[in-house]
Amino acid sequence: MNAFLNELSDGKKMVDKVFKAAVAANEAKAIYGDKVVDATLGTLFDEDGTFVALDSVWEPYESIDKIQKAKYASSIQGNPDFNQAIYDWLFGDLDVEIKCEIIATPGGAGAVSSTMKNVLNPLETVIKPNLGWGPYKTMASEANITLTDYNMFSGNVFDIRDFKKTLTEVMKKQGKVLAIINDPCHNPSGYTLKSDEWDNILAFINELSKKGPVVILHDIAYVDYNHEVNGWKKHFKKYNDLAENVMIVIAFSCSKTLTAYGARVGAQVVITKNNEQLENFKNAAIYSARSIWSTVNNSVMKLFSTIINDDKLREKYMIEKQFYIDLLNDRASIFVNEAKEVGLSIYPHTEGFFVTIKVDELEKEVLNKKLQDNNIFTVEVDGGLRVAICSVPKRKLKGLAARIKNII
Ligand SMILES: Cc1ncc(COP(=O)(O)O)c(C=O)c1O
Repeated sequence: MNAFLNELSDGKKMVDKVFKAAVAANEAKAIYGDKVVDATLGTLFDEDGTFVALDSVWEPYESIDKIQKAKYASSIQGNPDFNQAIYDWLFGDLDVEIKCEIIATPGGAGAVSSTMKNVLNPLETVIKPNLGWGPYKTMASEANITLTDYNMFSGNVFDIRDFKKTLTEVMKKQGKVLAIINDPCHNPSGYTLKSDEWDNILAFINELSKKGPVVILHDIAYVDYNHEVNGWKKHFKKYNDLAENVMIVIAFSCSKTLTAYGARVGAQVVITKNNEQLENFKNAAIYSARSIWSTVNNSVMKLFSTIINDDKLREKYMIEKQFYIDLLNDRASIFVNEAKEVGLSIYPHTEGFFVTIKVDELEKEVLNKKLQDNNIFTVEVDGGLRVAICSVPKRKLKGLAARIKNII
């Protein structure tokens, strides 16, 4: 052996498909300008192509004191006013209390990766949707755990049968389950589970938990862009009816919620009836935080609580954000309706930042290259090509489905 890296790290190389596709799109834009359709980036862009940084978020940021910006956070677990604001933002409209622990993390990514690391032993298996956010794989690999998939869709609905089958098999094998559900506005399909689909999932995991601990990592990165807006959050009430051997870890992110992607602020919101396990999880999460990233961005934690706690600022923010929810809806309608008209096959879509075209896994790379040759840039995901409608103006979405259908 002649390597400086250890055996697990030697050979690690990050190939981020989103950034790779974005680089190709930028190169094309330098030559072909506005002819290029760049549907690669999962961040919001306006109709004129400018990056959206909400005024209602970034104006109040200016009034935050420089000392607050310079200082460390007041607690590794997260500033108490931030943690309280997260609670109020997620559960404030419910007519019940949710018993939970909240730990600040660097974005949703910090929440997801820390959960994987602390829940599973090395070489155990995390369960994720077959159509899903790419970094779940790298995070699992980084924690030296393996992955298996549940099939996301059966026709136009959630494939509950395969979900049950996969979780049951893993429970049999390792006596414990950690499964990821990304909802609402699933990345990359834009599907939102229906209330009865969630009921079926929760009834099943309650049952499964008789055989061993069940942890559901509920990734809500896009929660604030669903059609029901805060109304969707009534879903969380269902988490009060879970069995003692079930834990929910909600991965919350300020990246999309505040258009604060670079600020790296999010949280783990941990819910279980088992008080001892809740305490143990919190302690482990704080320990991991201190040993990996230490504390979370102080000024943006402050920004979040400032906006949530001030009626006027919150109202302004809600109105500005609603404009983009409506815009996303308009964009999706154009692409999804035209896809239907021309027979372009897409995964079930409800709302959110993305729509994904179904393509054969073996042909995916070639088809994507063909699109690129025609100045259309999408991102290859498992089982499809992701169109980030969050970053494409309506005028470029009109006729796009027909163009793609012709090319592929
Ligand atoms: C499905 C999903 N989960 C989590 C995240 C986490 O994002 P961040 O770490 O920026 O909060 C993202 C961001 O793209 C995402 O798409």
